[in-house]
Amino acid sequence: MNIILIGFMGCGKSSTAWKIHKQTGLRYIDTDRIIEKQEGMTIAEIFSKKGEKYFRNAENMVVNRYLKFCSDCVIATGGGLPCHSGNMEILKNIGWVFYLQIPFDEILKRAINKTHRPLFQDEKKAKILYLSRKECYSKAHFKVNANKSTDEIAKEILSMIPTSRC
Ligand code: S3P
Repeated sequence: MNIILIGFMGCGKSSTAWKIHKQTGLRYIDTDRIIEKQEGMTIAEIFSKKGEKYFRNAENMVVNRYLKFCSDCVIATGGGLPCHSGNMEILKNIGWVFYLQIPFDEILKRAINKTHRPLFQDEKKAKILYLSRKECYSKAHFKVNANKSTDEIAKEILSMIPTSRC
């Protein structure tokens, strides 16, 4: 059984996934970290040196060559991963997909690291992206209110997992 967390930048996917890993022993996977390791560059460097298209292709390769073979993992995805290249359908086939939902204004209040996030350099553009992603994210199996502590989000997710295995 895999637990897959999706949602906009700053919604708490990685820290919630880490909490779930600690509580359950599920293996922790973060798609951005896999790509950084593979490319030997940070996400910001990949975007500036190779471009977004290259990054999206790398994400799709992680889905097809790595995530498809995961079992008993908790997976934090990059914010755009489910919204490109048919990745969402694949994610839904390999585990329970949770959308960590949070108002844009709340993300702005969080001290998120914008330098590491090439698509969060300009707040107006980030807001447009946020709105354009809602429909995609809504296709998740479950929506979780992520406007609370990561401990609470993790607890809610674990209480929602259906008992039958994926
Ligand atoms: C992106 C989100 C980032 C990272 C990249 C692109 C996006 O991940 O994958 O900067 O398109 O929303 P986080 O959601 O973990 O910040």
